[in-house]
Amino acid sequence: MKSMSRRDFVKVAVIGGAVLYLDSATNAPYVHAAPKDLSAIGECKSVSIKCVSEVGWWDTGVLISDMMKGGGPKDSDQWTTKWNQENGAGSCSLVEVESLDGGKTKFLMDTGWNPKYMDERFKATGVDKMLKNGEIAFLYLTHEHLDHLWGLQTTLKYNPELKILIPSTFTPPGAKFIGGADFPDPGTKNAVAHKGELVKLQIGEMTRLADGVCSVGFDIPIILKIRGEQSLYFNVKDKGLVLCTGCCHQNVITFSDYAVNNLGAKGKIYGLYGGLHIAPFGKLEQQQAGWIEQMGAYGFKKVAANHCTGLPAVRKMVELGYPVVQGRGAEGSESDLYIGNGDSVVFG
Ligand SMILES: [Fe+2]
Ligand SMILES: [Fe+2]
Repeated sequence: MKSMSRRDFVKVAVIGGAVLYLDSATNAPYVHAAPKDLSAIGECKSVSIKCVSEVGWWDTGVLISDMMKGGGPKDSDQWTTKWNQENGAGSCSLVEVESLDGGKTKFLMDTGWNPKYMDERFKATGVDKMLKNGEIAFLYLTHEHLDHLWGLQTTLKYNPELKILIPSTFTPPGAKFIGGADFPDPGTKNAVAHKGELVKLQIGEMTRLADGVCSVGFDIPIILKIRGEQSLYFNVKDKGLVLCTGCCHQNVITFSDYAVNNLGAKGKIYGLYGGLHIAPFGKLEQQQAGWIEQMGAYGFKKVAANHCTGLPAVRKMVELGYPVVQGRGAEGSESDLYIGNGDSVVFG
């Protein structure tokens, strides 16, 4: 396999952006970054994504009960609340980008929650071997939430030198966790210290990671006292823009609007992958249903929404005739209506 140069892939050149102030609501006030057009990102040939795991946790009732004991949705802190670790699964995807010259680069987006479960998922998808033999270029952490970060020791066990990209808003406990630490209060630990490069991507800015690939950090307060989530945009030649996200706490409308208003992608949006945090606890409220209706305006050609999108939200997308990519409902995933554990989607 021809590999894109690592140096080229993550040179972390900031090419635009201003400070954003975003709340989780779609109409939150924020300062637009200077508008760019898609040529500022460059182009890639294709993006393939394998869902290693999209199951954040097994039992929503247990998760909510833990959160209520920790102070409720507004006041519970991820790092001081006691979580039932056995209830944890985790979100993690394997992304492969093909450049215009045919070079391929693989990276992980997030690293799940329960280390034992993540090891099973890595073995089932071959990620363990890919990490061991250096095929995976880096780990891109979208945000600090437990179901995206706390499985880190499984990744580091196979490659402690792996480069990690985090949003600049990581809290001190989050940074300490990456360095290797025990957290008895929440009941988690990272037993394998990270020995590789740690890159902080500036929140509120767009960072070009490679030709056709950029990361945008949205500055938002998120549940469990976490701040900031970064998401990816891929500009696929002759197809358009692919939006790729961990939980999309910034909201799918804000995420899509950024593409239109700041990346010049009006009429050029092609795909969507990841957790959309629309009905994460299983109930679709009227406001959330409205967001799904608004999604229709962007003209997505392929929608691969999983994880915290919530099954009722995916059902609503199917009802509205959106091009939802279906999976097998296997390997722990709840339904075949969306791309689940072990399923893949190709954009390009
Ligand atoms: Fe999540
Ligand atoms: Fe999250």
